[in-house]
Amino acid sequence: MSAVIEAKKRITIPEIRNRKGKEPVVCLTAYTVLTAHWLDDYTDLLLVGDSLGMVIYGMENTLGVTLDMMIAHAQAVMRGSKRSCVIVDMPFGSYEESPPIAFRNAARVLSETGASGIKIEGGVEMVETISYLTKRGIPVMGHVGLMPQSLHASGGFKAQGKDEESARRILDDAVAITEAGVFSMVIEGTMEPLARKITETVEVPTIGIGASAACDGQILVTEDLVGLFTDFTPRFVKRYSLLGEQIEASAKAYSEDVRSGKFPGPEHVFGMKKTDPVDE
Ligand code: KIV
Repeated sequence: MSAVIEAKKRITIPEIRNRKGKEPVVCLTAYTVLTAHWLDDYTDLLLVGDSLGMVIYGMENTLGVTLDMMIAHAQAVMRGSKRSCVIVDMPFGSYEESPPIAFRNAARVLSETGASGIKIEGGVEMVETISYLTKRGIPVMGHVGLMPQSLHASGGFKAQGKDEESARRILDDAVAITEAGVFSMVIEGTMEPLARKITETVEVPTIGIGASAACDGQILVTEDLVGLFTDFTPRFVKRYSLLGEQIEASAKAYSEDVRSGKFPGPEHVFGMKKTDPVDE
């Protein structure tokens, strides 16, 4: 088989869009080449989320993340993946000012990374920008409900849509951005009845995080999924492995071996064994 035929084809934006009502969309965040590599066979969409500011860089929130950071991490994720559709978060301050500025920055992301689309937070207030971008060939994923970039305005990382008025507002946001042209949207931190209502109402796949199984797909931060965190994890996270504890156990065993002289052993030293490939 030729290399061209063997090469895995990336899942496209229309394929994600057409999953609505057919097949769940499996999404995870990825920030690095190796994470992308290990996730790629099992995900439909990899999001280079601006949560990387908190998860990788230890920031208190996502507001300090820059476009250059997002581009560098998106390039790594593209190098590590072959199959999943890669979407890149537009960081705070890179798209809110005006549609042309949003276009310039989004075009930079797509041209410098090769990713398939971008994600922006916001509802009704972002309609003009989303419409401007999508009409000019930039696929946009929306993000409604809890919007981490608006944490100061909303009073913190709190579940949204608890009362009728705010639930109505979030539904209006979801409908407005769908009409403006998003191909899919994240619903974050909302009550189950609201996520269900949005999912039943809009024509594009909804991807839930802390928004219940009523959504068309799910996303989690990969580091939460594999237990690579130090303190608080939200209730909606399911932990599938304990990498943090495994890293700590490995570091402990290594430090004991080095201190006791057990490592390196003869098998780790060049020129000690006949079978060492370096000697052959
Ligand atoms: O930044 C991010 O990782 C996200 C997901 C939580 C959806 O926006």
